[in-house]
Order: sequence, then C-alpha cells, then structure tokens
Amino acid sequence: MSSLSTELQSEVDVLKAAGTYKRLNFLESPQGARVRMEGRGEVIVLSSNNYLGLANEPRVVAAGIHALEQFGAGTASVRFICGTFTVHRDLERELASFVGTPASLSYVSAWNANEALTPTIAREGDFVVSDALNHASIIDSVRLAKAITKCTTAVYKHSDMDDLRDKLVGARGAARRIIWTDGVFSMEGSIAKLPEILQLAREYDAIVVMDDSHATGVLGKTGRGTAEHFGVLGDVDIITSTLGKALGGAAGGFIAGPESLCDVMTQRSRPQLFSNALPPTVAASSLEAVRYTVAHPELVTRLHDNTRYFRAAIVEAGFHPLAGETPIVPIIVGETATAIRISEMMLDRGVFVTGFGFPVVPQGQARVRCQVSAAHTRDDLDTVIAAFKEVGRAVKLLR
Ligand SMILES: Cc1ncc(COP(=O)(O)O)c(C=O)c1O
Repeated sequence: MSSLSTELQSEVDVLKAAGTYKRLNFLESPQGARVRMEGRGEVIVLSSNNYLGLANEPRVVAAGIHALEQFGAGTASVRFICGTFTVHRDLERELASFVGTPASLSYVSAWNANEALTPTIAREGDFVVSDALNHASIIDSVRLAKAITKCTTAVYKHSDMDDLRDKLVGARGAARRIIWTDGVFSMEGSIAKLPEILQLAREYDAIVVMDDSHATGVLGKTGRGTAEHFGVLGDVDIITSTLGKALGGAAGGFIAGPESLCDVMTQRSRPQLFSNALPPTVAASSLEAVRYTVAHPELVTRLHDNTRYFRAAIVEAGFHPLAGETPIVPIIVGETATAIRISEMMLDRGVFVTGFGFPVVPQGQARVRCQVSAAHTRDDLDTVIAAFKEVGRAVKLLR
C-alpha cells in the first residue's frame, strides 16, 4: 500500500507542478446565481448546470423535505426487491410526458442510465456508432457493450453526417444499427444535427439514442429538449437525460422510450438489478422541478434571453467563444494551465467559472466554459463581462 500511495502522490505532484491540478471549491450556501464560497464570500456562479435556477427553488426544496418525511431516507434495497416508491412511478410518468415518449425509467445518475443502456439492448451482430464528442458515459457504455455482447462499434467525426452515412453503409449487414449522440455537446455547446440524424436512421434502418442531459429544460420553447428545438418531439427512439442539471440539480438520470424498453431495462439492466433506487427525496424534488418547468415556461424564455445577451456581450468584449445558441459558451484558450489560471483570476474577481483541459477536452484545446442560467440577472452578467475584460487583458487574450 505504501508504494501505491507514493506513486499516487507523485501523480498528484506532477499535476500541481504543471498547473493542471483541479482544486475543489467548497460552497456554504445553496446553488444559485450567487453562492457563498468558503474563504471567498459571495461569488457569481458561471459554471453550473443549474440552467433554470431550480436547485434552490422553494417548491423543489419543499417537495424533497416532504418526501423525506413521507418515505424516510431511502429504499434500503435494490428496486425490484423492495425499493420502489410511488414517487418513482409518478416521476417516471411525468418525465416521459415531458420528453415526449411513452415511458421512462429513473436511475441514480445519467451516467448510470447511459452505462446501463447499450450493454442491455445491444446483441452480438449489432452495430453501434457514436459521435466522436459524445459524453464519457456514452463512450464507456459502448465500450462495455462491445466487451459484453461482442457487438461491433465505430465512432463518426463530430456532427459529420457524411461520415455517419459512410459508417452506416459499412454496417448494412449488421443485425441492428444504433446511433448514439448527445443532444447538446457539453464541452462545445453545439447542438446535434438531429433532423439529419433521424433522416439517416430512416434511410439505413437505425435506432437513434440521444443523451439530452444539457438540453432537457434548456432547449425548445418549453424546455423539452433537442427534439422540441427541431420540431421533432416524439421522433427519437430513446432519450436519456439527467435530473442533476436543469431539473432540480440534485442527482439522478433516466431513460425514456417505449414501455417495452423500460420493462427490459427493469428486468435486465445491471444498475437496476444490483444497485439501490434513486432516493425518494431526490425523486420528489425532480418531480416538482418537472412540474414547475411545465408551469413556468417563462423560465426557459429567460434562459434563452440571458444566453443571447451573454453571447453578444462576450463577443463585444473582444472574445471569440465557440459560436452557438446554447447556454454553454466555451472560450478556447489553448493550454490547460492557462484555462485554470484564468478561472483562478476570475475567482479573485468574484466569478466562479471553470477551466477545462486534457483529458476532458483534446490536448491544446483547453477552455474556460461559461454556463448561463435563468437565475442570472443582467447585473450578474455585466459583472462577469467586466471581470472577463480585466482577466483577458492580463493574460493577453485581449488587447
Ligand atoms: C452529456 C452528459 N451526459 C451524462 C452526464 C452525467 O450526468 P449525471 O451527473 O446525472 O451522471 C453528463 C454530466 O456531466 C453530461 O454532460
């Protein structure tokens, strides 16, 4: 053990020496546009997935407290043994209706849901093709499916429909073809070309699976996600998403699709069979978050307005973020150490925004990822822009 510990410590030391060590910041107040950070006082948060500001919405919090009183702390078991509460069923019905599918099934995280999906539905002889920039949980899910089922797999260039078509042509002989895409790509803020993907799926008889974690509550006029954004609600075969971002921000994820899919996932997916259900407090808060989003579409409108405002202001300030229309606004800065340094300088100015480097993004494409929320006021966003201008000049990104 002592040699393992020494080796691990030297790994950490290398990261620290390179300026790429991720330091954890501790919050003393609920997630929101502004939080109290230990040792820092109040800071503006520009790096949270709390897109609709529901993490501390009183009704969402109250629903969790009520569920704690009604159901206690948790299931104390795997779901099929004795771990399903009525709130799980209510949540799953509401989620399905929200994203436009007949049914849904909750998991303790979207990571869990994604990882469960491919190994459960793929079989030997199937072909799974995945966008190059898909989330790590999809990548691991496909790897696991390949190892377990001996399906074949491929990766298509990010959002490159010609490459996807080539891969599908090459897999004409496969028993089934499964296309995996993010709805919104988390590090780019770009939106999948869903109408084209659906068209290719029709042409080549493929199943489309979309992870809408950064789109649920975010895209579309009423926040139903990427399918609503493109006017194709109900056309995606399988949607996965998280409850840990716009929908309350606690934790949890789900798979949405036909009844038979949710049934099979209940019967066979290993995280359902061998791991506890979503805590009822979280299920109840998420359920209230969905209902609140449906009842308050103006929150989604405010998120869209804030996004447009911030994107225009950061460009006006002289930065060149990746173009797009989502609340994820990445500013590419090159080296990981630069991204981390900028995020520390921003924190010194009262803005919490995270720098991302390798291996989360490709080498040399480190970035500061800004995330806008409906909870931000214009004053918050103006303060952020002023801080970015100062830091941008200090690190010579701006003149
Ligand atoms: C696209 C995508 N999928 C899945 C996840 C995992 O979500 P969860 O935190 O619910 O496991 C994330 C979170 O970072 C994500 O960005």
